[in-house]
Amino acid sequence: MRPDGEITRGTTNPSRLRRVDRWIAQATAGALRAATRPLIVDLGYGASPVTTLELYRRVRAVAPDAEVTGLEIDPGRVASASRRLAELRAAGDDLPGLSFAVGGFELPLPRPPMLIRAFNVLRQYPEERAWAAWSRLRSGLADGGLLVEGTCDEIGRRAVWVALPAVPGGGEGLITFSARLASLERPSDLAERLPKTLIHRNVPGEPVHQFLLDFDRAWDRAAPYSPFGQRQRWLAAVTSLSATWPVMGHPPFGGHRRWRLGEVTLPWGALAPPAR
Ligand SMILES: C[S@@+](CC[C@H](N)C(=O)[O-])C[C@H]1O[C@@H](n2cnc3c(N)ncnc32)[C@H](O)[C@@H]1O
Repeated sequence: MRPDGEITRGTTNPSRLRRVDRWIAQATAGALRAATRPLIVDLGYGASPVTTLELYRRVRAVAPDAEVTGLEIDPGRVASASRRLAELRAAGDDLPGLSFAVGGFELPLPRPPMLIRAFNVLRQYPEERAWAAWSRLRSGLADGGLLVEGTCDEIGRRAVWVALPAVPGGGEGLITFSARLASLERPSDLAERLPKTLIHRNVPGEPVHQFLLDFDRAWDRAAPYSPFGQRQRWLAAVTSLSATWPVMGHPPFGGHRRWRLGEVTLPWGALAPPAR
């Protein structure tokens, strides 16, 4: 069967996915630990398997029996990642449970995954294909599984991702904004990293547009905190934003510990386009 999807640019960079990987390791640790040999998929890892290896190390630190498969639609990229893996093993690093395979949205795997990370993959598709890919990927998850789909900049200073539960039966989805605060001018700078399903919705009348507008206003009001650092300003802005938006305020998805990292998470439903 032909893999579902298209070969696209393979751009990647070491550590560019560190912000989402930290979130995955911290916010989903309980679910990963509760499963036996949870399967995690890195869908569309690109020209080098470096971020798959990083995800592998992160999740194995919290769930030592987790298995990670890098899936790529480009067979050449799978051949080269598999060669790299063989070299690492020959050099003495066993990397148990790590593998690479050719595949797309149809998820040709021995069992349904607990987690799919798909980063910087759907942005290169038309919006309708991105919605369709969400549906297909969510229906391929294990019960209780999560699709983490998002976008970041070249070096991972700004990222936005959604975490969507398996269908049918899953709970509420989430959307997370994450930035290196030292290099952020305003919260709405994150608009350029919105997932494909939202990027064209940042226009008046759409919830995501109103949210970014309100976030910028909260940021402006928090300007007196600037002398104490960007982090204090962000904390003050997120706290005031919480009065009008359903910002997650408690662990594992919210609260000061996460906000301090330059993150803010809301229910996906709060920002989803009204028709969806
Ligand atoms: C820009 S790279 C992203 C690399 C890495 N995830 C990152 O964020 O650094 C996108 C990769 O996704 C792959 N891709 C696109 N559609 C895919 C699909 N349906 N299934 C698997 N891989 C896909 C492309 O071939 C490309 O290598």
